[in-house]
Amino acid sequence: MFVKQLADNQVRIGAPAKINLFLQVLNKRPDGYHNINSLFQAVSLFDRLTVTRTFEPGVRIKLLEDADLSTGPDNLIAKAYDLMAREFELKEGIDVELDKQIPVAAGLAGGSSDAAATLMACNILFSLGLGRTALAELGARLGSDLPFFFGNGQALVSGRGEILQESAFPTDYWLVLVNPGFPVSTPEGYARLKRGLTISSTIFTLGPCPTVEDFIDSLSLSGNDFEENLRRSFPVLSRIDEEIVRSGAALARMSGSGPTFFGIYTKMPDSEKLLSDRLDALRVYTVRPIVVPEQQQ
Ligand code: C5P
Repeated sequence: MFVKQLADNQVRIGAPAKINLFLQVLNKRPDGYHNINSLFQAVSLFDRLTVTRTFEPGVRIKLLEDADLSTGPDNLIAKAYDLMAREFELKEGIDVELDKQIPVAAGLAGGSSDAAATLMACNILFSLGLGRTALAELGARLGSDLPFFFGNGQALVSGRGEILQESAFPTDYWLVLVNPGFPVSTPEGYARLKRGLTISSTIFTLGPCPTVEDFIDSLSLSGNDFEENLRRSFPVLSRIDEEIVRSGAALARMSGSGPTFFGIYTKMPDSEKLLSDRLDALRVYTVRPIVVPEQQQ
């Protein structure tokens, strides 16, 4: 995430979306979660949160864009503030202006990224002095995807999403994200997979990838375990996949539990308009993988 302090009592945070370059769901765990094996990559599609410390306790969320999103206590931003308020006995509150650009329930972890940004904002505005590891641990209590957003933007991810191994695979490529505009529930996606308690699949590993071409070749040997089921339920997803490949992508794949698809391009694509036209104005974004600079961590 990118943090800018605007005043003593105000910060602005760019909270990026993430994609899963590959995603295996390995097995169900006794705690009800699933163990995964995935490569997470942050991308340059951002929600922007302007967070202001207020004398009044509690959290108030204002949406700057129209979005199908609650601003009440079930919003992950509110849950993030509530967690910090409880843990650190905060007597004051926050106002959050949210410029929501990342599609909701889309497999891009927008809600988790916003919540991670809120934890960071509280850390700064209430001078809590927490490091990245402590913030990631707090984040894991709110959602499996959160700890990733305290890293450098790329990580091999295991456990239920909280075990991160930072990686340095190539990032010199472009991405087009295509979101069909309907939400998909993550818990339902996991339930539909009907995974047992034991791991039955081979755990995928990426070999060394000195060039982006090697990287894409290796990625093409993997997949996203949520994709097949969701394609069966929503035939439009196969159409999206075909159109992305037709537009020149070296690889097309679904992100997270869907339904957003991404295409990887080794040259700057000019397919955003083409795809919007051919797919009847679905939400289409051209983005880049991002690596968060050291001083921002
Ligand atoms: O961790 P988070 O709250 O984002 O997860 C939402 C739901 O998705 C969980 O309650 C669980 O049903 C499912 N999930 C899972 N395994 C994971 C992550 C999420 O089963 N690794």
